[in-house]
Amino acid sequence: MTINVLSNKGIIGLITLSVFIYYIIYTTDYSLAQMYNYPDARGVIVTLIRSNNRSILLTINMIHSVMRFHSVRPNTSYPFLIFHDRNFTSQMKQHILSCTTKYYNQINISFLLINFTTSVRPAKTSQLDKSMSYRLMCRFWTYDVFYHPAVRDGGYEYLMRMDDDSYFADKTKEDLFVYMKRKNLDYGYRALYSEPIEPLKRLLRQLFGKKPIIINCIYNNFFLIRLKWYYESELVQNLINALVEGDYILREYIGDGCAHGIMLKVDEQVKSKRLTFLAYGHNYHLMRSRENSWRFKVVEHFYEEMENSCHQLTIIDRSQERLKRMNIST
Ligand SMILES: *[C@@H]1O[C@H](CO)[C@@H](O)[C@H](O)[C@H]1NC(C)=O
Ligand SMILES: *[C@@H]1O[C@H](CO)[C@@H](O)[C@H](O)[C@H]1NC(C)=O
Ligand SMILES: *[C@@H]1O[C@H](CO)[C@@H](O)[C@H](O)[C@H]1NC(C)=O
Ligand SMILES: *[C@@H]1O[C@H](CO)[C@@H](O)[C@H](O)[C@H]1NC(C)=O
Ligand SMILES: *[C@@H]1O[C@H](CO)[C@@H](O)[C@H](O)[C@H]1NC(C)=O
Repeated sequence: MTINVLSNKGIIGLITLSVFIYYIIYTTDYSLAQMYNYPDARGVIVTLIRSNNRSILLTINMIHSVMRFHSVRPNTSYPFLIFHDRNFTSQMKQHILSCTTKYYNQINISFLLINFTTSVRPAKTSQLDKSMSYRLMCRFWTYDVFYHPAVRDGGYEYLMRMDDDSYFADKTKEDLFVYMKRKNLDYGYRALYSEPIEPLKRLLRQLFGKKPIIINCIYNNFFLIRLKWYYESELVQNLINALVEGDYILREYIGDGCAHGIMLKVDEQVKSKRLTFLAYGHNYHLMRSRENSWRFKVVEHFYEEMENSCHQLTIIDRSQERLKRMNIST
């Protein structure tokens, strides 16, 4: 009897000890893995530009902000895909390339033509202040970009949107693609807003019946998405088909931010997160790190400074609410 009790205690002790040791090893390994072993994440940064000088200058500024502030492993860089319409000229392309390749030897920028013409006309009842090129832009970020061969067949896991007038305002402190992977996220964004417009409401009634539903739209033209989630979530695909069939986005106008908001709503399994740690600016919309709200502040000469974007990064500093100019050097 005594021996049995002792050996039982012994066994319990042994189990406790081994669980403890296992725990130590596991947690140590885990944190070491985090520190030294970046998982590989195949990411791509996508921009849709306008074929005018201002957009070219802004795009160069945006690229400088990514190269300076996106915290990636030394000597690595994620590819940029720049989508443009037919009016994009070879001088514009050369300007972007010469102002970036001379500073960053590992940078890889591809230029891709998209067909931005359509015979679809806006419905008279739709928001007519939204031009057809604006509506095409909305469809691009909801649909076209994902089915362009450069993205569809590029072998990427994650896509990050940066507009020409977007910029990181400080170090991201972590590789955002690795962050998505490490946190097992399908979707990351920086800010939300709501836009209760009629065609959107009609669509939601079609999709959800009478159930009252609040859609948070993705704000400020920044998102990271796991492509496999977009392609393979049946609920997302049903939604996208509903939006694209019959040219709903073009005819009725649905903003891309709200289309993305609905994607996150229809698939309840989605793992999405507000990336509050990011210091991010979108023209005059300023978001400080660890701050949920954003501030709109028109700071004079922001666009004029873009004349210098070949060799200078210009951001709007959120704390001081003024321009911050940084020289780019080789
Ligand atoms: C755009 O930039 C090019 C090259 O710098 C210049 O030749 C052209 O005149 C500019 N166009 C406008 C409309 O400013
Ligand atoms: C990065 O590249 C530079 C120049 O090619 C080289 O001097 C440096 O050692 C590299 N750093 C790492 C961490 O590989
Ligand atoms: C290209 O420029 C022409 C002339 O300015 C304009 O009419 C046309 O809509 C533009 N094409 C596209 C695809 O933006
Ligand atoms: C540049 O990026 C494109 C698109 O991701 C890729 O196909 C190509 O192999 C890359 N080129 C280099 C030299 O890395
Ligand atoms: C662009 O798309 C429109 C509408 O789908 C089509 O009618 C037109 O032929 C396309 N243009 C080109 C050059 O592919």
